[in-house]
Amino acid sequence: MSIRNEPMVRVKKFADKSSLFTAEIRAEIDRWIAKYPDEWKQSAVMAALRIVQDANGGSLSQEAMDQVADYLDMPPIAVYEVATFYSMYELKPVGRHKICLCTNVSCMINGSDDILAHLQKRLGIGFGEVTEDGRFSLKEVECLGACGGAPMMQIGPRYFENLTPELVDSILDGLE
Ligand code: FES
Repeated sequence: MSIRNEPMVRVKKFADKSSLFTAEIRAEIDRWIAKYPDEWKQSAVMAALRIVQDANGGSLSQEAMDQVADYLDMPPIAVYEVATFYSMYELKPVGRHKICLCTNVSCMINGSDDILAHLQKRLGIGFGEVTEDGRFSLKEVECLGACGGAPMMQIGPRYFENLTPELVDSILDGLE
């Protein structure tokens, strides 16, 4: 067997488990696949990874990425490349609320260091970590395109801007 064939063998092994690929998940991915010509269904890879990540509690396991590769007829390495390049994909478990704090130039100039210090003190975690109760995780991100509201953070789909320590407290107090 050549080295080139090995990834496909591994994909089959994981695909047989198909634990994540419920009919609902497949239907959701299929809606994205339908947006592209038949021969380019791998163009749905970013949407498929997002869908599977959400279904997997907010992060991607290797099994999940391999299942995406299998479903889209892609080499697993091509899926890993996408999942490791973009910051919205997680390869380790995250908290129920993923706090993404921007530390890029505008946010840094406007006080993201102070916001980070406050978050670290309040939550007892640093970047890349999850609180013991699993409620929060903290992630450093590059510019999220909301420089006019710096410093800012993203939690789930929502942006929170013009942050102060007091505002951070009221935002976190309002989360389950
Ligand atoms: Fe933080 Fe642009 S630098 S949103």
